Amino acid sequence: MAKIIGPGSLIVDVTGFAPHLPVAGETTKGSTLRFGPGGKGSNQMTAAHRAGSQVKIIGYRGNDVLGQILKAHYEREQMSEEYVTVDDAAETGSALIEIDESDAQNRIIVIFAANEQVTEARVLAAEKDFATADAVLTQFETTTEAVFATKALAQKYGKPFILNPAPFIDVPKELFRGVDYVTPNETEAEQFTGVAVVTQDDCRAAAQKFFEMGVKNVVITLGVRGVYYTNGKEEVFVPAIKVKAIETTGAGDAFNGGFATAIAEGMPIERALQFATCTAAISVTRLGSSPSMPYRHEILALMEKEFGVKP
Ligand code: RIB
Repeated sequence: MAKIIGPGSLIVDVTGFAPHLPVAGETTKGSTLRFGPGGKGSNQMTAAHRAGSQVKIIGYRGNDVLGQILKAHYEREQMSEEYVTVDDAAETGSALIEIDESDAQNRIIVIFAANEQVTEARVLAAEKDFATADAVLTQFETTTEAVFATKALAQKYGKPFILNPAPFIDVPKELFRGVDYVTPNETEAEQFTGVAVVTQDDCRAAAQKFFEMGVKNVVITLGVRGVYYTNGKEEVFVPAIKVKAIETTGAGDAFNGGFATAIAEGMPIERALQFATCTAAISVTRLGSSPSMPYRHEILALMEKEFGVKP
């Protein structure tokens, strides 16, 4: 079983569904409210875990009502909390999510709270698990110092480092130097490179900017259009799979968790992109973010159906 480690956010999603989303100043009658485990970091680790990896998240949460939802999730999934700090004085991270039932799209306000206490020191405390990991995965919902420390440990032990630069925050460009795989969506790609990503030429131009920052491989997810990859020599495009989406929250996280698993297992790049695409496709057909992540047998079945391959 491949091992994946990295700092990541622990957040509870408070999700309201409505036939259409209100504009500023408007009140709209909604249909449902749900609380569930989320956070880009935890969603991605959940996706990787269900996809077949052994995961260790370096996280920080409170012991409050929201913290109990995350605790229950980790116990139910039997995911390690070895590097999760539980602080009675801290407020667990939260996200206010609005889902438009007409197109399954969302709007999110994320409150990092306790996640901002994932420091360099907490990452360094997990060093022994970087030494034995098969891949390292993180995002931008903890702290920049944690991401720098993560990259340094991944490089020290020669492990593939996957950086999902989400959500967009203002980080030093130096942070991207030496990153093995950067995995923005088209919006984040534009925010970090200044290149509006619509066509394949735009993907190429945005990737070039990431190469100039020192990234080795660029993966740009394009939503319903698919995913573009390049290492500067080779290009791969994998189209999205047509499904009936009911909630897209966490789709990018599903992709990243699946992708990290595939890279950790040493799959060739096209196969890894297909594996990640299948992981994301299944997740949008289910409610919730972490709860929507598919299991390995489901991903493999879809791989065979859509791409005619078994990893
Ligand atoms: O990527 C989706 C996630 O972003 C949600 O689960 C929410 O917690 C926010 O962090």
